[in-house]
Amino acid sequence: MKILTAYFSHSGENYFAGKIINIEEGNTSIVAKKIAAITGSELFEIKRAAPYPIAYRDCVKEAVEELKAAARPALAENKDVAGYDAVILCYPNWCGTMPTPVFAFLERGAFAGKRIFPLCTNEGSGLGSSGRDIKRLCPDAEVAAGLSVKGGNARDCDKDLAAWLKKNGLKS
Ligand SMILES: Cc1cc2nc3c(=O)[nH]c(=O)nc-3n(C[C@H](O)[C@H](O)[C@H](O)COP(=O)(O)O)c2cc1C
Repeated sequence: MKILTAYFSHSGENYFAGKIINIEEGNTSIVAKKIAAITGSELFEIKRAAPYPIAYRDCVKEAVEELKAAARPALAENKDVAGYDAVILCYPNWCGTMPTPVFAFLERGAFAGKRIFPLCTNEGSGLGSSGRDIKRLCPDAEVAAGLSVKGGNARDCDKDLAAWLKKNGLKS
């Protein structure tokens, strides 16, 4: 099975244990790299062409506006998923669902017949409506039950990751 691990992640300011701090690597990026290493899959970063603000409040404001407008922003790079059987899709929960660049990635790709495995890092909301949103955007894909990882546990989620990947036949 040829697998692509695609991820969106935002470095810059974020909340950790109730405090805003500046982080160099986003939580989802840390988890996605672990998954790519475990599964031996190719890694692709879903990135908005125009970077999001580093300041947390500005970023949230823009994310809310984009979600309300159902924006599908231009991506820094597009990825043809034709050659893959499965996509492990990693993203943070932004305002109850995926960031809009992930919507754009799914809407523009040819996902019919592919398997999608959602992984969502978050601060407590779990996957939110992202599983349903993925199914709506890719009605002809097979969407697995996703894994929620608490953002602050990104460096320390190996056991949960291994169990989820194994359950889904993505790791021996
Ligand atoms: C714009 C924005 C919106 C967010 N909305 C939520 C939310 O609704 N629920 C939640 O649990 N966490 C929310 N978070 C927290 C992130 O999901 C969490 O910190 C995640 O691990 C960040 O991943 P990243 O560092 O890879 O971007 C939000 C963060 C940002 C920046």
